[in-house]
Amino acid sequence: MKGLILSGGKGTRLRPLTYTTTKQLIPVANRPILFFVIEQVVQAGIRDIGIIISPETGESVRQAVGDGSRFGAQVTYILQEKPLGLAHAVLTARDFLKDEPFLMFLGDNLIQDGVTGLVEAFQKEAADAAILLKEVPDPRAFGVAVLDGEGRVTRLIEKPKDPPSNLALVGIYLFTPAIHRAIANIRPSWRGELEITDAIQELLQSGGRVLARRVEGWWLDTGKKDDILEANRAVLDAYARTAIEGEVDAGSHIAGRVAIGPGSKVKNTTIRGPVVIGKGVTLEDCFIGPFTAIGDGSTLTRVGLEHSVVLEGCILSDIPRIEDSLIGRNTRVRRAADGRQALRLFLGDDAEVAV
Ligand code: G1P
Repeated sequence: MKGLILSGGKGTRLRPLTYTTTKQLIPVANRPILFFVIEQVVQAGIRDIGIIISPETGESVRQAVGDGSRFGAQVTYILQEKPLGLAHAVLTARDFLKDEPFLMFLGDNLIQDGVTGLVEAFQKEAADAAILLKEVPDPRAFGVAVLDGEGRVTRLIEKPKDPPSNLALVGIYLFTPAIHRAIANIRPSWRGELEITDAIQELLQSGGRVLARRVEGWWLDTGKKDDILEANRAVLDAYARTAIEGEVDAGSHIAGRVAIGPGSKVKNTTIRGPVVIGKGVTLEDCFIGPFTAIGDGSTLTRVGLEHSVVLEGCILSDIPRIEDSLIGRNTRVRRAADGRQALRLFLGDDAEVAV
């Protein structure tokens, strides 16, 4: 079985961060989301992995992931010239996929329990496709599934205005080569994309067997700022371990699960985990609250920070309370010394500030 991970797309809802990086490389708990995805694919026993990249951000994905050997995988990069849909990505990967079954995983999706169980069930049941479903309060932004009384899939529709159920399609799928025939028979949707949801519906209509499983643990689709913070929270909650490699002075207080990378210095600071702090970070007179990740080389002085993701090389000072924030690389945030209340901003395009 092969793996196909999608790491293209424009990430418009995560601008300005996605002007310089692909959304799948935005870190949660200081590691790119894409790395967690690759690990989950490898854990399911799949080592031959194709990664779909876009012309805009493909190079950064190549640089971050390399040949895959450090994940125990072999990675082939496949360029999708235009974001014409998930089924179009499968079409683009046709030469790589050959006539083997494959696991398709959207590189910005994360699920708590990995995909090993789904892959095993798919192989045992000899289905043509397997999908994962999760109940969500508002399914209009997703593909939606309708099941019959016995839990069999009867219909799938992409982003319905009037959803017939609250079961959203998670961005993780298993296919036999039967999907290629189905893709050949579909037309672009109203948004101009070849939808994988339509291809699976086509497979159903032509008598194909589609296995559906519900996701029991969390599912995160990290397309927006709050999703990244939620993913950071969930991943820190699940994986944060205490590992203090930097220096912590006697005036500091560390509680809960806190990782501090080598070369970091913590002075007169309280940290309440789960928190992960990268390499070469300096914290002085700070309060760092739960569910926070601070990237390598950042310096924080007299800052309160909670439930936030700060990327590498940031300099933050004299801000008593920052929360629910996602701060891009090399950003500076400081209180001016003149005591005036005015905000003086120098922000990238599409930045967002809530005061
Ligand atoms: C895509 C799929 C959709 C699925 C979602 C999961 O949506 O088209 O069916 O529910 O991923 O993340 P998109 O990210 O293209 O809006």
